[in-house]
Amino acid sequence: MDKIVIAGGKPLRGRIRISGAKNASLALLCATFLSRNEVVLENVPEISDVRVMIEIIKSLGATANWEKPETLRIKPPEEVSSGAPYQLVKQLRASNLLLGPILARFGRVRVALPGGCNIGIRPMDLHFKGLEGLGAELSLEHGCIRGRVKGRLKGARIYLDFPSVGATENIMMAACLAEGQTLIENAAKEPEIVDLANFLNILGAKVRGAGTDVIKIDGTPILEGGVRYPIIPDRIEAGTFMVASAATGGDVTLENLIPIHLQPLSAKLREANVEVLEGEDTLRVRADKPLRPIDIKTMPYPGFPTDMQSQLMAMLSVVPGTSMIVENIFENRFMVADELKRMGARIKVEGRIAVIEGVSSLQGTQVKATDLRAGAALIVAGLMASGETEICNAIYIDRGYHKLEEKLMSLGASIWRK
Ligand code: EPZ
Repeated sequence: MDKIVIAGGKPLRGRIRISGAKNASLALLCATFLSRNEVVLENVPEISDVRVMIEIIKSLGATANWEKPETLRIKPPEEVSSGAPYQLVKQLRASNLLLGPILARFGRVRVALPGGCNIGIRPMDLHFKGLEGLGAELSLEHGCIRGRVKGRLKGARIYLDFPSVGATENIMMAACLAEGQTLIENAAKEPEIVDLANFLNILGAKVRGAGTDVIKIDGTPILEGGVRYPIIPDRIEAGTFMVASAATGGDVTLENLIPIHLQPLSAKLREANVEVLEGEDTLRVRADKPLRPIDIKTMPYPGFPTDMQSQLMAMLSVVPGTSMIVENIFENRFMVADELKRMGARIKVEGRIAVIEGVSSLQGTQVKATDLRAGAALIVAGLMASGETEICNAIYIDRGYHKLEEKLMSLGASIWRK
């Protein structure tokens, strides 16, 4: 069952509900270690990355139970006994977000160093710079990150050379229990950063400025917790469906999202002659006119999101004319180009630049997903292509999309698993 098959050529039509945000969920699951008492997270997407993170926090002594679909009750441990096992950590890079909260709450941590992944080397120098700036002693021993704090972390002024999402999150979480004030300068501004700050504040923290370049955290001795918190909708899942609607000449309304989070993508789709209509918590994407070629540069939020670049490459591969994508965030995020070329696309990749010459159509064939968003791009390509497309390594897609086939089938797609 690790293959998804699509019989393409049908425009998507209808309405679907967007699930909770994967990247916010992963950070908030780590943040629960800061809380004295139980917390309940709502709108949690039941995707494999979340299931792995739940196993990891349970391996560290937490309890986690689904109260009902998409609602998770978590009781953080009184003490963190062992380290998170490599078998689990190697599956999930975001396990590095455990460092800050566990160090701040328990004074010591051991987490296997999550490997890189195929989109880039994914260093952690900014995470280390921030946590050491707060007084942590970190070392790498036998493939594990070990950390210790003598007494309590101390607030500090930390400048991030790059607005790293993960480093901002790790430092923000650790600073909540530090003594005194922490400033994070050149902080990441993604919506998931704001969601994490909102969650920390209802736990009892004092975080200000999330969503801007400078985040100010006044440390407190403990965070009571004992709260319920609804996670924001997933802007990248929403964006993927927006591109799928545009790519198939469809007319799809997405529900349960925050339109402003999709502004960079909506603006580029409009530039490509796609109609994007904004409601309070909906977006309608209609493509009943010929699309135009566009140029994309991925940037930190509120720039164009790197997580949407592969999906747009698929859509642009049949738009007449020349489009260009510059990937400024990760060093190896054009792997899907080779698979799209197997379907007839004409794409030239040179370092961080991809040039796409639109062709009349893509042809279905066997292709393989190399990472989560490349897999999503192949779904878009399969929906557009003539004939059947068979995508193997569908397990990558399951990491970040909840009930993807069901949602696409409800929009008229001919898609099944085998
Ligand atoms: C988060 O990864 C997301 N993952 C990624 O989504 C997303 O693509 C990325 O942010 C950028 O928006 C989660 O939130 C779980 P970064 P993260 O630290 O935190 C460099 C998806 O498909 N860097 O902002 O790892 C790094 O090499 C995933 O949902 C350092 O140099 O991203 C990269 O070039 C993929 N040193 C750039 O910053 C560091 O210490 C962005 O990385 C950390 C990062």
